[in-house]
Amino acid sequence: MTDARSIPVDPTSLERLAGQQLTYRNIDMSLPADAEAFFRADARGFLDSEPSAEVITATTAALEARRNIGVFEVGADEGALPVATVNSWVTPLTVPGGEVDMWAISSVTVSGTHRRRGIARALLEGELRAAASAGVPIAGLTVSEATIYGRYGFASAIPAARITVDTRRAGWAATAPAGRVEYIDKETLRDHLSTLHDVARTQRSGQIAGWKLRWDRVAGLTPDHPSAASVRGVRYLDEHGAVRGVMAYKLAEIPDTFRFEMTIFHISAVTSDALTALWGFALQHDLVDRISVDLRPIDDPLPWLVSDRRGVEVVVHDHGWLRILDVPAALSARTYRAPIDVVLRVVDSLGFAEGSWRLTVDDSIARVVPEADAAVDVVLDVAALSALYVGGVSAVQLRAAGLLDATAQVAASIDDAFRAAEAPLLGIWY
Ligand SMILES: CC(C)(COP(=O)(O)OP(=O)(O)OC[C@H]1O[C@@H](n2cnc3c(N)ncnc32)[C@H](O)[C@@H]1OP(=O)(O)O)[C@@H](O)C(=O)NCCC(=O)NCCS
Repeated sequence: MTDARSIPVDPTSLERLAGQQLTYRNIDMSLPADAEAFFRADARGFLDSEPSAEVITATTAALEARRNIGVFEVGADEGALPVATVNSWVTPLTVPGGEVDMWAISSVTVSGTHRRRGIARALLEGELRAAASAGVPIAGLTVSEATIYGRYGFASAIPAARITVDTRRAGWAATAPAGRVEYIDKETLRDHLSTLHDVARTQRSGQIAGWKLRWDRVAGLTPDHPSAASVRGVRYLDEHGAVRGVMAYKLAEIPDTFRFEMTIFHISAVTSDALTALWGFALQHDLVDRISVDLRPIDDPLPWLVSDRRGVEVVVHDHGWLRILDVPAALSARTYRAPIDVVLRVVDSLGFAEGSWRLTVDDSIARVVPEADAAVDVVLDVAALSALYVGGVSAVQLRAAGLLDATAQVAASIDDAFRAAEAPLLGIWY
């Protein structure tokens, strides 16, 4: 897998920013002052409070694995914070039938003093050109606002469900699986979150690999964690004693009631029994009236496990955003659920995916070739193709929104081929 840190900064963005008296350069994370300035700018950009020395040390150590870029005023004092930040790394993205390399982008910030003069555009286009130059066929990110990234060809492709439960109304109807649930300490919680995610992420398209600091944070083990003392963990062991599921959560009193709300930070369950057992633990917990959790798959079975489904509220929202850069490499990296033979005309204002492509799927394997002269079956923007890619968005729905120009029959056949068996999921923020 490509090491993103070996890819130089994009020369076009370098030149464009230099024209604004700005230096666009890699951050050398082995230089503590450079690393600290990057992370403090990142924290400021995300409206966080000033990080403590301990947080800076822990975070910058984790950022060493990424390609970190800062934008500086030409002639800025040594130690000055960058006026903009971005970082990236290459990670496996699970797709139906396998994995594809994805250029993950994070830490996109532009300082309040330098906003709306094209710096974010230079950063994003620079990342896409860097990824394409490295031969990485797709880029991905999670977003603070859903209005920022469509202009670069990204689309919401992996929706997630935010679930809230009124436990008294919902009740519980499922049969308890064999096996048992146990409390675990935070270090064990962190270790299980990591190892089970490595399995769980291969089970649903849309998932990416996790990293240690993420699991430290979920387990309440990072310095200055806002609710470290409240984080609790349980695991599920199957009837043979194998760990198949883990859940991190906290309990907080609903003021003056001595009834409690459970906030679940993360569930990783690699079998249906594990998920049922962990849901059963949560929903039958004494003194707990409310449960909330985000980043569940939209086909989570919970509404079918309770006595009254109206006690379970499921809100679907955008979460994982994808952007195809190389159409043949991306489309041939996944398998399909039905044969299809279509010519796609892909429109891409940044050029990466622009062209006409024949997609032929036979025995679930795809062949994708440029097809300049054939009659086109589907016209769509690269963002729409990216939305469809991992099988979490419907072509019929995009057609109804005017984002995919094809007959109803062709749109339905795209859905037959592209849909994933289980709803795609991205279980983490990055
Ligand atoms: C979002 C952010 C990075 C934009 O930076 P910026 O340098 O001001 O953006 P640019 O000047 O390059 O704008 C590029 C385009 O995005 C648009 N845009 C910028 N910020 C936007 C926002 N918050 N919502 C919608 N559109 C936005 C601009 O209007 C411009 O549109 P155009 O090129 O189609 O005319 C910056 O506002 C920021 O740091 N916000 C806080 C941190 C954050 O939310 N980061 C994103 C993490 S996912």
